[in-house]
This record gives sequence, structure tokens and C-alpha cells, in this order.
Amino acid sequence: MMIKTPKKLIEVALPLDAINVAAAREKSIRHGHPSTLHLWWARRPLAAARAVIFAQMVNDPGYQQGGGFKYGVNKEKAAIERERLFKIMEDLVLWENTSNEEVLDRARAEIWRSWRETCELNRSHPLAADLFNPEKLPAFHDPFAGGGALPLEAQRLGLESFASDLNPVAVTINKAMIEIPPRFAGRRPVGPRVERDRQGKLSEDWSGARGLAEDVRRYSAWLRNEAEGRIGQLYPQVEITAAMATERPDLKPLIGQRLTVIAWLWARTVKSPNPAYSHVSVPLAASFLLANKPGKERYLEPVVTGDQYSFLVRSGPPTALAKNGTKVEGRGSSFFCVLSKTPISGDHIKAEAQAGRMGSRMMAIVAEGQGERVYLPPTNEMRPLL
Ligand SMILES: C[S@@+](CC[C@H](N)C(=O)[O-])C[C@H]1O[C@@H](n2cnc3c(N)ncnc32)[C@H](O)[C@@H]1O
Repeated sequence: MMIKTPKKLIEVALPLDAINVAAAREKSIRHGHPSTLHLWWARRPLAAARAVIFAQMVNDPGYQQGGGFKYGVNKEKAAIERERLFKIMEDLVLWENTSNEEVLDRARAEIWRSWRETCELNRSHPLAADLFNPEKLPAFHDPFAGGGALPLEAQRLGLESFASDLNPVAVTINKAMIEIPPRFAGRRPVGPRVERDRQGKLSEDWSGARGLAEDVRRYSAWLRNEAEGRIGQLYPQVEITAAMATERPDLKPLIGQRLTVIAWLWARTVKSPNPAYSHVSVPLAASFLLANKPGKERYLEPVVTGDQYSFLVRSGPPTALAKNGTKVEGRGSSFFCVLSKTPISGDHIKAEAQAGRMGSRMMAIVAEGQGERVYLPPTNEMRPLL
């Protein structure tokens, strides 16, 4: 017996502008977005996923007949009805409404209504009890789930959601996003609070995945402390001294503080091709830029003294040297010697590397300041790393 399926909204019309704007905006949202859980290529915007699932589940209100059934209302009424559905979608695609239960409930109610209408149309189908149960929405299965945008949104819209993928990384992302949070929904955290976990006042609202998120935070704080205890000595903090601040007014408020280092910036080196400096390893750096934020630019300036060089951290608009490092612009793998400006050809670099003479040199330290990064030249504390 033929299945009677009214056309879905997605086959007739979509509020594309609203979906496009929301999908584009989502690209710049990080806090709370699943894309920060793990990078995945071709991840679909949640707004688009939410919109297409809704529009595939909801019947188009336009009149249709054929296939053994009649459905829908006349043109004028259908246009009004479509406007109403569009309004739901326009609210639904907004990032701010991702967990707005009022908006989601309106969408879920619409999905249920369409499903029940479809069940009613197929009431006399021989498998109606199984296939058209008005109390059970069809489940959703994405066999190519990737970053999980579609199954996550199907779940949000009230469908039982299944995800699979060829790639175990995608499977893990989907487990973390779709399978595990509902299993622990509404539960309070169970992990012991850790010392120095830097949490503010603990929330007592453990609705949704809050309790689970708190447990993940506690476990990662424990893991971090454990790692710090075992290998922390290999990552020395950097002390801001008065001497360091003499030419760096930005460091003055930090004098006496010990900052956590979050990165060490290194350059590969080869021996200079200039015979006068052939005993010196010089950097192959494609840029000396440290920070490019307008108004907060920082870059390294190499300072040459005889056959030695060191780096100073400078602020202000970056110089050409800062932008290009010791790389010769537009010349593939050609660099120049920071001491003598002698060109360093790709062949020289290759020969040095093959002779085992390619080295590395620390150029700068990136430390965690108060709400911003602090850039410093290598200090004595970092000597064991040099
Ligand atoms: C375009 S991505 C899906 C993106 C997803 N809709 C999202 O929003 O993140 C396609 C996915 O299909 C998976 N895939 C490719 N070939 C597959 C196969 N034969 N069986 C299962 N998954 C496969 C890939 O690993 C990839 O994650």
C-alpha cells in the first residue's frame, strides 16, 4: 500500500536569508559552540542543520491532491500559514535561541503536528502500528555524521538521534556531544573538587549537561595539577624583573610576578654562509611578528652586537623586517643572514640540514599576563631549554 506523504516545507519554500545570516554569524561564535570541542572539516553550521531538519519534518501547508490523498489549504491560507512557519524558523536559527525552550517547544510542537497529520493520512496502512505511530516520532540517523551538527540538532528538535561515521574521531565527537550528555542530564557532579581549581562560586543548577560539564572541568583540573606536579619543573615560570621593565613600560605593573609560560617561539637556524660569520647559527624566520591586533602589535627586533645577536620585543606598527623575518620576499626558500645580510640560498639550507647542522634558537617567550599575553625575550630561567 502506498505511503501518503504530504510535501515537506523544504520542498516548497525556506526563509533562506534568515538561515544564511545566522549560519554566517555562527562562524565567529566560539564560546559554547561544539566546534571548539574538536575541529572537523565540512562541519555544517548548526543554524542550517536545525533549519533543514525542521523543514524536512514539517508539512507544507499548500493544497495538494493525488497519490490517494488530499492535504492542505488554499493558496491564501497556505501563504499565511507558511509565514507563521517561517517566523518559527527565523527564531529557531538564531544562536541566542539554541537552548531557548520556548522557541524550541514551538518548533517541536510543529514537528509533532505534521507527524500526527501524516499518521492520520496513513491510518489504514497495514503497518500503521509500526510505521505511523502518532505517539512516536521517527528516529533520525546520520551515517556520515562528521562533526555531528545534524544529529545534534535532530536531538534538540526532539527526535531520537543516531550518528555514525567511518572515522573514529567523528564517532568520538558524536559520542561526546549526543550520546553522553543526555545519559547524565540533570545529574549533579560526582568528582571531588580539586585544590586550586580556580572556580568561582559553584552553581547549584545542575540542569541539562551542567553537572557533567562541571565533572569534566574537575577532572581536567585534576589532570592539569597532576601533570604540573610530575613535569612542571620542565616548564619554568618567568619572573618579571625591574631590569626587564626598564625599556618596557608595559612590564612595570608586572614587576616581581612569576608568569606562566604558554609558548616558546623558536626559529630554525643554519650556519651563516658568510665566511666571517660561518661559526654563527643564524635564524630562518619567516616573520618576527608576535601580535598583530591593531593597536597592540608586538614584534621582535634582532639586535646585532659583533658576531652575536639577540631579540628585543617592540610595540607599534611592525617594520618590513618584522613582517618578513629573515625571509627574502617572493624567493621561495631564500633567507638572509641576520648578521651580514648575506643571502642564504635554498641549496645552502638543504646542504646544512643534510650535514646535520640545522639547529634551533629560542626567539621569544609568550607568557600569561592579566587577561593578555606578555611577550618576552628568552630569560636566564629558560637557559636549560636553550
Ligand atoms: C561532509 S562530512 C559530514 C559533515 C557533517 N554533516 C557535519 O556537519 O559535521 C562527511 C563525513 O562522511 C564520513 N564518511 C566518508 N565516507 C564514509 C563511509 N563510507 N562511511 C561512513 N562515513 C563516511 C567522513 O568521515 C566525514 O566525517
